[in-house]
Formats: sequence, structure tokens, C-alpha cells
Amino acid sequence: MYIGVFDSGYGGLTILRELLSFLPDYDYIYLGDNARAPYGTRSFETVYQYTLQAVKKLFSLGAQLIILACNTASAKALRTIQQKDLPRIAPGRRVLGVIRPSAEAIGNYTKTGKVGILATPGTVSSRSYELEINKLYPEVEVYQQACPMWVPLVENDEHLGDGADYFVRKCIDSLLSQNSDIDTIILACTHYPLLLPKINKYLDKNIKVISQGPIVAYSLMDYLDRHSEIDAKLSRSNKRIFLTTDVSEDFDIKARKFMGSTIDEIHSQKVSLV
Ligand code: DGL
Repeated sequence: MYIGVFDSGYGGLTILRELLSFLPDYDYIYLGDNARAPYGTRSFETVYQYTLQAVKKLFSLGAQLIILACNTASAKALRTIQQKDLPRIAPGRRVLGVIRPSAEAIGNYTKTGKVGILATPGTVSSRSYELEINKLYPEVEVYQQACPMWVPLVENDEHLGDGADYFVRKCIDSLLSQNSDIDTIILACTHYPLLLPKINKYLDKNIKVISQGPIVAYSLMDYLDRHSEIDAKLSRSNKRIFLTTDVSEDFDIKARKFMGSTIDEIHSQKVSLV
């Protein structure tokens, strides 16, 4: 059975990329809901409904364990799916998110105890990062900034264009104006690592920028070590399946670019989630 990786669009590929380098032997099935991205400005109910549809699709195609490689879905849908839906639709299978492992890792990075979160409006308004970080590190101060234009820039392949500079700079300046001692920033949206060349351009080099891919991959390794009953069900024949809810030819070209050298070819299939 597969490890499923879900995102509203291309962002989850920044997580899959790291999973393939840390845990290359497993079989993976990626689903991007590109037709309905972005999720970041949608209501709790809508994000929950869309995410549940995606989870059901991935289970029906043989996923044993699903990573919600989307902070917005992790913030707005994960808990309800784990507590309410899973016991009913797939007891014995698992759905994991990306917020908890990122919050756990933050203690290793900040020296000033002032942490910045760049995320979608949905993740920011859920306050999930603040809550998770403060459960583990009550002394850490968390400052958040919503970046509503960043996901559309990536989904439309404009993230490295000149127009992106304006929106990247604007959000970074707004975040840092909240506290000048912020020394660590979490890119709390899986799309954002694709904007790193622009982000680095406007950030002081002394500020650490954390991408979630390696953190989530490490956390999954640890999870599988501790849950041998789940690990035993995962097949290991290097299969990679890509699904999109939009045009598969477009997905293949962009996804290939975003995956870098971790994969040679991508031939996605279009699926419907409704
Ligand atoms: N990659 C998703 C995240 O991590 C983006 C959500 C969106 O589609 O706005 O939040």
C-alpha cells in the first residue's frame, strides 16, 4: 500500500521531494487539487469537505497513510478527520499533518524566542501554530503574517517573475515590523519554499528560514520506526503515482520543474473528487 501525499495544488511537492530523498523505497501517490486551489482563503467547512474528499479518494486508491502536505488542510480539517471520520471510514489507516512536526522543530532554532510564521490567511486565522508552539514552548512568542497572494503566484507559475517581488517584500516587511527580534521564520505553507529565491532577497541573512520538507520527512521516518504495524503494510517498489484535479499536461510540466532532480518523468492522471 501507498504513502499518500495531499495538497491543494503544487505545494505538497516540496514535501514529497524530501520524502523521496529520505525514504526513497516506499510507494507514493500524490494528489493535487489544482482545480480548486487555493484553499487558503476558503472557509473551515469548505476546506474540511475538500480535504475529506481527497482523503477518501487516496484511501480508495490504496493509501495506507496520508500526509496532509498542506498547512491549511492540516489546520482546518486534520483534527476532525482523525477524530470523527477515520474511525468510520478507514479504521487502521492514518492521516498525519505538517503543523505539529514543524512546531516541535522550532525549539531547535530560535535563540531570541521570537518566531515568525508566514502562512495562508486560513492557517493564520486558525492560530494553529501559536497554539501548537506554545503547548511545547510556552516562552516562545509567535508572530504571524498572512500572505494571500503567494499561493496564486506559485500555482500560476509567476513566483520567480518580477511581480512576485512586490508581494514577497510586502509580507516580509509586515512580519518583521511586528517585532525586530524575530530570528526564525517558518514557511508555514508548503508552496512557499518555491519562493525562496525571492524570500532570501528581502531577508537579513541572520534570520533562519525553515522549510517544512526535511522536518516532515524526518518526522515520518520517526513515526514509521515507532509504528511497525503501519510500516509493515507499506509497499516498497519505488512506485510514484501523480493525480491532479485539473489538466494533467500542465501538472506534469510544472510538477517536473518543482520536483527537481528527485524524479525523471511525471505522467499524472486527472481525477474527480466529487
Ligand atoms: N500548500 C498549502 C498550505 O500549505 C496552500 C494552501 C492554499 O491552497 O492556499 O497551506
